[in-house]
Amino acid sequence: MKSYITTPIYYVNGSPHIGHAFTSVMADILKRNREALGYELMLSTGVDEHGQKNQEAAADLDMSVEEFLDMRGKEFRDVFDRLGIAYDYFVRTSREGHKTAVAGMEQSIFDKGLIVKKQYTGTYCKGCEEFKKESDLTEEGQCPLHPTMKVEQTDETNYFLKMEPYREKLLQHIADNPDFVQPEAFRNELKQMLAEPLEDLCISRPKTRVTLGVDLPFDPEFVTYVWFDALANYLTNIDWPQEGYEAWWAECEHLIGKDILKPHGVYWPIMLMAAGLPLPKKLSVHSHWVGAGGVKMSKSIGNVVDPIEVIEKLGVDALRWYLARNMRADSDSQISVDLITQSYNSELGNKIGNLLSRAAKFSKARFDGTVPAPGALSAEDEAIRKSVLEATSAMGDWINLADIPARMQSIITVADEMNNYFAEQAPWDLIKNEETRERCETVIYVTLDCLRVVMEALTQVIPTSAEKALRMLNAPEIARPWRPELDKLQGNGELGEIETLFPRVQ
Ligand code: ME8
Ligand code: MG
Repeated sequence: MKSYITTPIYYVNGSPHIGHAFTSVMADILKRNREALGYELMLSTGVDEHGQKNQEAAADLDMSVEEFLDMRGKEFRDVFDRLGIAYDYFVRTSREGHKTAVAGMEQSIFDKGLIVKKQYTGTYCKGCEEFKKESDLTEEGQCPLHPTMKVEQTDETNYFLKMEPYREKLLQHIADNPDFVQPEAFRNELKQMLAEPLEDLCISRPKTRVTLGVDLPFDPEFVTYVWFDALANYLTNIDWPQEGYEAWWAECEHLIGKDILKPHGVYWPIMLMAAGLPLPKKLSVHSHWVGAGGVKMSKSIGNVVDPIEVIEKLGVDALRWYLARNMRADSDSQISVDLITQSYNSELGNKIGNLLSRAAKFSKARFDGTVPAPGALSAEDEAIRKSVLEATSAMGDWINLADIPARMQSIITVADEMNNYFAEQAPWDLIKNEETRERCETVIYVTLDCLRVVMEALTQVIPTSAEKALRMLNAPEIARPWRPELDKLQGNGELGEIETLFPRVQ
């Protein structure tokens, strides 16, 4: 069983930000989930190094393009490493093998007569690296996604890929494969984009305007349009066109933000059809993060959330937790350092970390640092155990991108139940009498073993903290596929060193 998960490859004109962190962290969560089910995984993330925007960013810093790309590539990679993203492949589109394969794809489409050369007058947004129609622009004539970047008027001769011949076929594919674009709101948005005849897609840039790109194989005066080159990464990462890529490609799922639905939902499938290649299995689309109060994040407002700053202040898992817990499927969601701090303190700290530290410290003090062996389970013990297994069971199933927040919600709900159980059973009272001592042992055992199940589930989301907790509990290794009801804690087993998992932050 294979699963190939991709993230967008991000433009390197700026430093990595919270949006980039988000999609790559979600991809990592899905990877860990599928590994828990026994799948073999390929996860790719990385950077999009070509195009006008990147070229100008290098020039603005007075750096050579190579130096600039190396610097930014490293910066992105470092941030993804600090975020704990277990990527199998880090994409850089400046790689020779990638460029050769892109040129090969273009040549094969050209040879089929699907690419034409013509003169074109139009409005261009560098932010999107896309031509825009009048109807795509705001009343002020700017791109709604990049209002400060100012669109440019261009009048150029370029190469164009014919799109219209594939429109009906793509609509049919969407109708036949309801899972091709998820969630449904974005599938509908895509169908809307395909409701009208499609204009030809400009796939080149004259070298007089852009030099940072893949040379067009059939005309040395041009480079390849950055989106054509970037989208092809999904194939070149798995060594297309060399043999062996097919098994991964058949299981490919693209994670993307809604801002790039059109390139992934329209351009990419049509490029693949033109090249005679199968379409990816799935496009999972998410909404955006905005600042507190719903305000767009911007440097001038000062509400930009810098992933590194959050990691330094609160730790990587505070950030991963917030991102996993709070993205709504159908509308934009708010993020700020304050919101992350609150959720870290109140959920990870008070509900989960605190219970673990109380139960473990109790064992240290009263049971010689061992996990007590349980006696017969009471109805309350059975009930909490069942709740915990039910609340986490969905983490033992295939998770879709849009399901992640609801899975986190069930963990928090059951953490509340565990805290209530602990308070009601009151082990600190039970320990006082010899007759209730065994009952006390059972309550502590049940609490610690429930925490073990929760932590095993959380290895998919906040692996650093969850693994630390499992070491504190001295839990057995997690079986693949994951069977939390079976890997029970050993009665009379030693506990590890007890540390505060989520120290409170003001
Ligand atoms: O579009 N909230 O790169 P890009 C959530 N190079 N996610 C966000 C976000 C936000 N506010 N802002 C960005 C490009 N993202 C192309 C992609 S792929 C072949 C080429 C995330 O640097 C989200 O995944 O503009 C979005 O789709 C992506 O970053 C855009 O990154
Ligand atoms: Mg963008």
